[in-house]
Amino acid sequence: MSKAIRIQQTGGPEVMEFVDVPLGQPGPGEALVRHAACGLNFIDVYFRTGLYPQPLPAGLGMEASGVVEAVGEGVTYVKPGDRVAYAGRPNGAYAQARIMPADNLVRLPDSIDFETAAGMMLQGLTVQYLFHRTFPLKGGETILFHAAAGGVGLIASQWARAIGVNMIGTVGSDEKAELAKAHGCTHVINYNKENFVERVKEITEGKGVPVVYDSIGKDTFTGSLDCLSPLGMMVSFGSASGPVPAFGLQELASRGSLFITRPSLMSYTAKRADLEQMAAHLFSMVESGKVKIDIRQRYALSDAAQAHRDLEARKTTGSTILIP
Ligand SMILES: NC(=O)c1ccc[n+]([C@@H]2O[C@H](COP(=O)([O-])OP(=O)(O)OC[C@H]3O[C@@H](n4cnc5c(N)ncnc54)[C@H](OP(=O)(O)O)[C@@H]3O)[C@@H](O)[C@H]2O)c1
Repeated sequence: MSKAIRIQQTGGPEVMEFVDVPLGQPGPGEALVRHAACGLNFIDVYFRTGLYPQPLPAGLGMEASGVVEAVGEGVTYVKPGDRVAYAGRPNGAYAQARIMPADNLVRLPDSIDFETAAGMMLQGLTVQYLFHRTFPLKGGETILFHAAAGGVGLIASQWARAIGVNMIGTVGSDEKAELAKAHGCTHVINYNKENFVERVKEITEGKGVPVVYDSIGKDTFTGSLDCLSPLGMMVSFGSASGPVPAFGLQELASRGSLFITRPSLMSYTAKRADLEQMAAHLFSMVESGKVKIDIRQRYALSDAAQAHRDLEARKTTGSTILIP
């Protein structure tokens, strides 16, 4: 048995139950992992509320680190005793131990501790693909990145600085502005106080930015399009404020032949070779000290519902982990 968070129905944080679940043995291609730490991500909220549907009852959580206890037939990537981490499906990472498809697991270098790993796999791999695969940055660009003091945001702030990119970060409070700046943002805009479109135009002397990374969705979508220079790329990668409403393609034409994409990490890590390359890049950024995983909140796994309340109330900054 393992203690784990389960939901019987979608809804508020109160639907999360901390219960005993049977573990079983890993089948072909699977590994049993005993978790040392689990990651908290905004996508977990989308699954809990039902914005992203899944069959119920279900587990929650897509990220954790720990030790492989047993492997099933045909598993070659990992063996019992390996220190591993993962970011991916199926949901169910909010658990003391679980069975995972072994090809989603990445072996951890000795230099990366379990808490750091659980705080960085999903958010750090996301920054890797956003900056190097979706819209590859060369250095020297000025970009707009929303929610710069969040989990993905603080990693992006440091990563941008490391590759010579001027990041304009948006945040919801002055304290968060300080934090994002200290982590490497060149400019920070408090979008609760200032009009971010006007500020981006000022900072870029009217030119706009070549790319916007927007994980806020509904509240920022149109403004983000307005910040782009002609032929710019809108990367809409999340919907913390709600899904982007339907829009006409003319919106892209009228602003100068814009591009738009709605990426998800799972498409970028679907091939094992890509997952390994992306993880190796993330590990090297962390090992070099250019990106520090700032774990700013820790909760007991049994308090996962409170962690969700704080995340949704915009009370958290940086990465958050749950300790089983
Ligand atoms: N597509 C992908 O591959 C992918 C992968 C990872 C994450 N994501 C997305 O990236 C975003 C960040 O994820 P994260 O886990 O690092 O979360 P996070 O940024 O730590 O938390 C979300 C932040 O969004 C901002 N926000 C703006 N409006 C909000 C609202 N109405 N309700 C709640 N928050 C609001 C808040 O910052 P302020 O107070 O500063 O506004 C809040 O702290 C999420 O949208 C997530 O879905 C996408």
